[in-house]
Amino acid sequence: MPFISDTLARVKPSPTIAVTNKARDLKAEGRDVIGLGAGEPDFDTPENIKAAAKRAIDEGKTKYTAVDGIPELKAAICAKFKRENGLDYTPAQVTVGTGGKQVLYNALVATLNPGDEVIIPAPYWVSYPDMVLLAGGTPVTVTAGIESNFKLTPEKLEAAITPRTKWFIFNSPSNPTGAGYSQSELKALTDVLMRHPHVWVMSDDMYEHLVFDDFRFVTPAEVEPGLYARTLTCNGVSKAYAMTGWRIGYAAGPVELIKAMCTIQSQSTSNPCSVAQYAAVEALNGPQDFLAENKTTFQRRRDLVVSMLNQAKGVTCPRPEGAFYVYPDISGCIGKTSAGGAAITDDEAFATALLEETGVAVVFGAAFGLSPNFRVSYATSDAALEEACRRIQAFCAGLR
Ligand SMILES: Cc1ncc(COP(=O)(O)O)c(C=O)c1O
Repeated sequence: MPFISDTLARVKPSPTIAVTNKARDLKAEGRDVIGLGAGEPDFDTPENIKAAAKRAIDEGKTKYTAVDGIPELKAAICAKFKRENGLDYTPAQVTVGTGGKQVLYNALVATLNPGDEVIIPAPYWVSYPDMVLLAGGTPVTVTAGIESNFKLTPEKLEAAITPRTKWFIFNSPSNPTGAGYSQSELKALTDVLMRHPHVWVMSDDMYEHLVFDDFRFVTPAEVEPGLYARTLTCNGVSKAYAMTGWRIGYAAGPVELIKAMCTIQSQSTSNPCSVAQYAAVEALNGPQDFLAENKTTFQRRRDLVVSMLNQAKGVTCPRPEGAFYVYPDISGCIGKTSAGGAAITDDEAFATALLEETGVAVVFGAAFGLSPNFRVSYATSDAALEEACRRIQAFCAGLR
């Protein structure tokens, strides 16, 4: 009898974490490595948030809390949804977990039965399909390619829906492409969903605050109030407030679903870290000017990276609306040989040769379900980005 469960055979470790680890190993060997793989802001958590956490420790707020979040945090989350999204939720409709990741996972475990399908536009955040598989469901990926600016069309969504569809996972701005849906683009999708009342919507709004130019962020329950009763609106403090290590994510939706998610959490991890919850209260209720400063920095970096990557031979890099990623197409590089003699058969071979020959770490597109591409996270200094893009340009110029 095998010791490891059959479930594990269906999933793979996160490729983004694998790239980050490989870059770290090369650095430890003394190599000059620029890591563009990690999906986290390079800023420190703002001082007021750190101070709130220190206060919580000093005040002894170090015990178990309510399983799915302290009342102060649930109140702050309700206020945030009202203020920023025009959505009315009561504390009973809110759940807090150890990162957005746990919240999404809880929702899938709490609702999926074998054979249940979950529609995931590709390219997708690496964890969605594997979470669905771990929860016993069937991921149904639908390609949203460069021709539609990496956005799912209503026709494709309609065609993917079957009687077994339980969830549609929506992520705007997107990891890995940065693509953000406008009000009218999202309305076209919610119109489709209104015709299929058995399909629930899981909206992953993690990058809400990282949007550029005059783009206005919208979320499905806001755009189509008719979907409110079957939408789980998910968010977190990791990306917006540079709090990836604190591990606080949250979601709001119908009470029955929230209760089911709480049951899963109560029998697995219990409450998220008490101190981190108090820090998150300050993040949501405290001064928000940090967000605007962040945006300006990320927008400048996006413009730098898009411009420099479009000057690399064989690379086409769309200009995304948000997040801190770009997802260039490298069709023009496939089938060539690198200056170091590597055959660039696919995007994984491209990323491997790029790391080995130039020290630039990116994540290959196949990991996100759309090739041939790679993902650049530009959440690093302007100087490092400029140098990395110069090396990518030189690497591409050397392809024969
Ligand atoms: C699209 C998306 N959703 C959710 C998460 C999870 O964030 P966290 O668990 O740090 O809150 C991430 C993190 O990379 C992400 O990119």
